[in-house]
Amino acid sequence: MSTDFDVKLEKKSYIPDPSYKAGSALGDYTTAYQKFLDNPDAFWDEKAKELDWMKPWDAVLKWDYPKAQWFAGGKLNITCNCLDRHVKNGRRNKLALIWRGDNDSEEVYTYRQLHRAVMLLANALQKLGVTKGDRVCLYMPLIPEHIIAMLACARIGAVHSIVYAGFGAEALHSRIRDAQAKVVITADVSYRKGKSINLRGIVEDAVKNSSCVEKVVILSRERSPLELYKEMEVDYYAIQEGLEDTCPAEEMDAEDPLFILYTSGTTGQPKGIVHTCGGYAVGTHYTCKYIFDIKDSDVFWCTADPGWITGHSYIVYGPLAVGATVVITETTPEYPDPGVWWNIIEDLGVTIFYTAPTAIRMFMRVGEEWPNKYDLQSLRIIGSVGEPLNPEAFEWYYRVIGKNRCPILDTWWQTETGMHMITTPIGEPMKPGFAGLPIPGVLADVVDKQGDPVPAGQGGLLVIKRPWPSMMRTVYKNEERYEKYWNQIRNYYTVGDLAVRDEDGYIMVLGRADDIIIVSGHNLGTAEVESALVEHESVAEAAVIGIPDDIKGQAVKAFVTLIKGYEPSDKLVSELIYHVRMTIGPIAMPAAIEFVDSLPKTRSGKIMRRVLKAKEMGVDPGDISTLEE
Ligand code: WT7
Repeated sequence: MSTDFDVKLEKKSYIPDPSYKAGSALGDYTTAYQKFLDNPDAFWDEKAKELDWMKPWDAVLKWDYPKAQWFAGGKLNITCNCLDRHVKNGRRNKLALIWRGDNDSEEVYTYRQLHRAVMLLANALQKLGVTKGDRVCLYMPLIPEHIIAMLACARIGAVHSIVYAGFGAEALHSRIRDAQAKVVITADVSYRKGKSINLRGIVEDAVKNSSCVEKVVILSRERSPLELYKEMEVDYYAIQEGLEDTCPAEEMDAEDPLFILYTSGTTGQPKGIVHTCGGYAVGTHYTCKYIFDIKDSDVFWCTADPGWITGHSYIVYGPLAVGATVVITETTPEYPDPGVWWNIIEDLGVTIFYTAPTAIRMFMRVGEEWPNKYDLQSLRIIGSVGEPLNPEAFEWYYRVIGKNRCPILDTWWQTETGMHMITTPIGEPMKPGFAGLPIPGVLADVVDKQGDPVPAGQGGLLVIKRPWPSMMRTVYKNEERYEKYWNQIRNYYTVGDLAVRDEDGYIMVLGRADDIIIVSGHNLGTAEVESALVEHESVAEAAVIGIPDDIKGQAVKAFVTLIKGYEPSDKLVSELIYHVRMTIGPIAMPAAIEFVDSLPKTRSGKIMRRVLKAKEMGVDPGDISTLEE
């Protein structure tokens, strides 16, 4: 792959009110970054000391390329950091969790209540025979018990493997088998847009021929006793009856695994990303405190699901480690109308809101009259994650949701990185289209295939040049796949994204390195063309693929969804082609544009170009279990 394209860099920037920087935990970015560069180990040593440990570590980092150990010899339990210390230190009766369901139904847990609930379930799991190191698969709706189940596993040293409850039986089955899960925890149903989805039925299909599974724990949403007709099934409430609600935390080695999380790879075969207890706790706590700038008075809402890394790091472990009040909701953003989420912000006084570009663009599409019906003044900081936040979406988010006031944290990171890596720290100038700067603790660069930095304005490979505490430690039972991340360019972690840096060091992430189309020998990032298309007033979302072309090798084909009020027409096709030509150049001109009602996407909102391409070519798209619709 060559990286010889130049990217038009936007010059516009937004400067947040100076009070943001003055009051932030990070303080001045440049100073903090320099402190990290001066002595990286001392930097992370200091951050790690902000957590409760049962035994201190012998070394901050042991780096034996490509394997890292962080805080080796240290002992801790992440749940003591997320729960016990708050119960002891003044947050006992603070709200830890506020859950919202359909029809404004609500459940809340204080830190004391959450602590008790976790310990009770931990005892129940132990009684089922779950011990340290056993894998427990969670396939649950977004309800407080999901979070309780994660923490209960962590309490006793069991390794959770969460499978998003939108996956089908086959995807669940393969993940249960790969992890060799001993217990599966699920619920009878989840609720989505007013309908109930039979999770239990999916689990029953998935555990057929999974000889590793000894017990399936089923939570009844109505709390009515379940009819258990399979020998392995047990009732979530029944297994807790009569047990103590105190349970000592298992002493975990910093390098013991905390969880496995499967992520789709380019090949379609999911990879079990392994994160460990110590480094992951440090990375998620650090970023919640210093990057999200979570304060005791904040009400923090990340709209992800615990089935994704965003939910692990920024619904559960990070925010609870800093003692925040966390909002979760089972509601979807458009049901019963596109005002539900804004209503939650107004009603609960959410101060930090973290969502995905795909949601932002959906809200743009339905119109700003929806958020405008609600009072969003409580918002202090708004964030984005999952794919590039294109400048149009940035401007809309900033103006309509952030009221030209809230800093936008466009956070670049991955399942594999465990924590935020690149963003524009609170108070620094924001540039639409750019994720921003490597956070203190992270050494990032844009390089060519040989690992040499490319000049500003030129596209290259995004790499991380130094280990960080919350990096994945391996791919479960697949060391070779782990090593691939580190040996594409020796000593660097190659993230698989293309990026470009401007003169100020700001990084714009262009998209996956494998989403490249070569037209007449010129490399085009699909993200580049898509970003040009969505700049057009009529376009809501766009996906671009390469199709075979006798002369050019490949030609660009675009799939486009339109904003309400626009109709497909030949005239619009010509207009869009012209627009791309004027924005990027003739080389990027789509050979064909197809208007569609929706685009195939993963649950985290990434467009599955592979599916569009397969359809176009009339071939099997392979494992598309991560599809949203
Ligand atoms: C890939 C990782 C991190 C949690 C959600 C997805 C893309 C993620 C951004 C961003 C541009 C982004 C990258 C990355 N990505 N955040 N702010 N700007 N691209 O986790 O499924 O592991 O995907 O998502 O391509 O490599 P994931």
